[in-house]
Parts: sequence; C-alpha cells; structure tokens
Amino acid sequence: MATENGYTLDQFLADTRATIKAKGVPSGLAEIRDHVEKLLRNPELLTKHLGDPVPYRERTTIGHDPETDVHVLVHGREKGGKSVPHDHGPCWVIYGNYKNPTRMRRWRRLDDGSKPGYAEIEIQRDFMNEAGHASVFAVGDIHSIEYGDDTFFIRVTGGDVESQKTLRFDPEKKSVQVADRARGQR
Ligand SMILES: [Fe+2]
Repeated sequence: MATENGYTLDQFLADTRATIKAKGVPSGLAEIRDHVEKLLRNPELLTKHLGDPVPYRERTTIGHDPETDVHVLVHGREKGGKSVPHDHGPCWVIYGNYKNPTRMRRWRRLDDGSKPGYAEIEIQRDFMNEAGHASVFAVGDIHSIEYGDDTFFIRVTGGDVESQKTLRFDPEKKSVQVADRARGQR
C-alpha cells in the first residue's frame, strides 16, 4: 500500500473523479482541495513529472482526466510576479502551493454587471497561501495572485481554463475586459 508521501497524480485523479461522482461540484470542491493538499505532500511529484532538477516553466500540464475534464498544471516561477484580479470563465480552480507561498486576494464584485466594461470590486480576503496549502475558487470567483522568486504552485482546474474567455478587472479604473486565453490573452 502506498504511503501518503507517495500519493501519486493517478491516485489524485482517481480520488477526484470519485468525489465528483459522489458529491458533484461545487459540493465536492472542499474534498478535492484535501486531495490537492495530499498531492502537495508528495516530495517527488515535481521531479517525477518535470525532471530533476525541476525546471522553471511558466505552465506545464502534468495530468488530465478525460472523464471529468480535470487538468493538473504546474507553474514554476524563477522571478516574483503578480496577476490582475480575474475569474476563470466557466471553470473552477484550486491553487496549491508546492514551494514558497503565494499572496492570494479574493475580490467581491459590487455592481450587477449590467453596464458593459464597468465593474466595481473590493478585496474580500487577503492571505498567504503557504506551501502545502490549497485554496478553492468556485466558478465565478475573482482573485489575484502575487508571489516571490522561486515559487512553484499547482493549479487543478475543472475544464481547460487556458482555452476559455475569462474576465480581467482593474479595480482602480473600475473596468472589466474579456481575455481570450486561447489567443494568449490573460
Ligand atoms: Fe486564477
């Protein structure tokens, strides 16, 4: 029997499939987050799927389950960076930090979305997503990220976010625009 340290990507995808079948989404997302945190504790996860030493690569898909369309991506950042507030289109997303933390901000939308290009958002929560921890963003949730040098995080998505149209917000200008990620906009 595998130990928890050896929790593999295949086990993760199988457990996630079972959770989605049993509980559905969004009800099952908290349980899937627990599976992600188990995966983060596998010390060999990145060397196994990316190589040793682990290269910095902006985005690598290391797993996909065709039945549930769940994707597992690794983001390896040599230099610090940040994103603007955004949603994930029709997808849910779980962010788990593997090495070093990400500062995570959750935003709440205040307007009703009826005025094209206009959006008012405010920070709802601001926290550090430490290594070993994962955070759930349900469909429609808005967040932004900020990280330092040498940060590796995993992103588990329900559907392929990188082929979707997502929203990007500018809280200062109170504006929102659509980013077509399939065309490299994000
Ligand atoms: Fe995101």
